[in-house]
Amino acid sequence: MSELVDLPPTVRVRVPAKLNLALCVGPLADDGYHPLTTVFQAVSLHDELTAQEAEPGDFSVAMSGEGIDHVAMDDSNLAVRAARLLAENYGDDRLGVRLSIKKSIPVAGGMAGGSADAAAALLACSVLWDLDIDPEELREYGAELGSDVPFALLGGTAIGTGRGDKLVPVLSRGSHHWVLAFADFGLSTPAVYRRFDELQPEGCDLEMPTELINALSTGDSEELARHLRNDLAAAAIDLQPHLRTTIDAGLECGALAAIVSGSGPTVAFLCRNEEAAVALSVTLGAQDVARAVRRVVGPVAGARLITSCA
Ligand code: C5P
Repeated sequence: MSELVDLPPTVRVRVPAKLNLALCVGPLADDGYHPLTTVFQAVSLHDELTAQEAEPGDFSVAMSGEGIDHVAMDDSNLAVRAARLLAENYGDDRLGVRLSIKKSIPVAGGMAGGSADAAAALLACSVLWDLDIDPEELREYGAELGSDVPFALLGGTAIGTGRGDKLVPVLSRGSHHWVLAFADFGLSTPAVYRRFDELQPEGCDLEMPTELINALSTGDSEELARHLRNDLAAAAIDLQPHLRTTIDAGLECGALAAIVSGSGPTVAFLCRNEEAAVALSVTLGAQDVARAVRRVVGPVAGARLITSCA
């Protein structure tokens, strides 16, 4: 008779990457951040995080997937910080967790991969430790960790103000088809914001992107394409001029529009429909303009529980 092995309680969470369909950036404020008006969309590119109960005070993370050599695995790791933040607030020193993360979201790619992992850790640990936290409270913890963490929890399509952490869901009809071009270099978010300050010290206007929001409510990708906006794009391209070549290649191959995702360097191409996205990903993949090309749709849900074995 086989012996039953007692596995520690385990929780698994899937969490999406984001694009900024609009990223309007105001001037640098005294707190070191820029006020934003942004429209986020969660897309079907996911990291997967497993949280396994560990000895009290034992917090660790292991990762697999591309680009992980550039991620800190110590206590500065954002997912570990998320777990510790909840433990400090709810468990005194009774809690511990072993995290493992399967990465598909590019590291330093402008798609909030680190924030997604922190969001996944918050959700997973709150379930694993059976903490009584409602979604809004969880998003507040997320905002303490990084500006994009609350949106990774919420998902869908949403307007973000403040640092991008104050969210209101946006009505969005249908699905949009995107082709992502991943770069073989990363861009540091603070470095891109610093370059933005040099190029545009007075900042850009923070008006609500009404036409973009209207386009989302109709579900018309061609209309949406006309209103995409990223104020950080010029700074990202200035730091990595190769991005221009990638953008031009996608547009020449039939994309409706191109945007640098967040602070870059990932470039997102909006396509007319699924067929056009398949064609673009094949053509672009055959050219030497990106490390990898990936087709996604948006919007998708935010961080979600896949399995829980207590
Ligand atoms: O909030 P998060 O840790 O993701 O931000 C990383 C860096 O990006 C900040 O330290 C800041 O330099 C810059 N940032 C900013 N304005 C924002 C969001 C981020 O200047 N609204």
